[in-house]
Amino acid sequence: MALKSVLVSALLHFSLAEVVDYAQYVNPLIGGSGPFEGLAFGGGDIFVGGALPFGVAKVGIDTYEPNVSFAVINGGWTPKGLVTGLSMLHESGTGGAPKYGVVSQMPLVGSLSSSEEGAPGTINILDNRTYWQQRVGDDTARVGYFKTQLESGVAVELSGARHAGMMRYSFPTSNEERHVLVDLSHYLPQESGGPSSQAYLGGEISLDGATYQGHATYEGGWNDGAPFHDLLLRRVRDGAQ
Ligand SMILES: *[C@@H]1O[C@H](CO)[C@@H](O)[C@H](O)[C@H]1NC(C)=O
Ligand SMILES: *[C@@H]1O[C@H](CO)[C@@H](O)[C@H](O)[C@H]1NC(C)=O
Repeated sequence: MALKSVLVSALLHFSLAEVVDYAQYVNPLIGGSGPFEGLAFGGGDIFVGGALPFGVAKVGIDTYEPNVSFAVINGGWTPKGLVTGLSMLHESGTGGAPKYGVVSQMPLVGSLSSSEEGAPGTINILDNRTYWQQRVGDDTARVGYFKTQLESGVAVELSGARHAGMMRYSFPTSNEERHVLVDLSHYLPQESGGPSSQAYLGGEISLDGATYQGHATYEGGWNDGAPFHDLLLRRVRDGAQ
């Protein structure tokens, strides 16, 4: 009997010792830059964001970087690109045109312009150049977690489960207006155009209290795919309440 329990505890000890958290050694930023550290130029089109290995939800930032070949933004993340949205689906390794970058949210600080042309200093949600964001400092990325700081003062934390994503915004404590833009028509664009570009075909969204739901349809992208539908259901929780 005594021998048995010694054996059991020895086995237990052995298997506990075997549990190593290898996730701590993963650096999701690897492959996000090109041969010149900190520059997207010549980069690997690698997704960087909050995701589990093989998770469907790959929650990350979609960026735009002027004056680089557009192929380098295909994973959404670039070292210095301007953030145009935060979206749920991404893909690593598409070499030509991007795929996904849907469905997006964007936390906004400031007042929205009521006219389509947009008054100076206000946000025109039809013109991403009036709200896209530089990032401040270095991004943090580890398995299942990504954090970045926008110039507007909003801290963004992103995480992914297998089929769901979480986006957390910490807004600055100022008197400015706060908004979260949900843009069904946003996707990772192919700046040079061409047959593999994505297109938004249509969608619907409805807001019910703190939940919004709907669907959107997109086509094209790197695999020249047939139209696919993205169903969305998002619960919004305000931590301040
Ligand atoms: C910005 O918005 C325009 C107009 O909707 C769109 O054509 C363009 O691809 C967007 N740019 C980025 C980087 O998302
Ligand atoms: C991009 O290239 C254009 C034309 O060469 C130049 O005028 C502009 O300053 C460049 N922008 C950046 C951000 O480097």
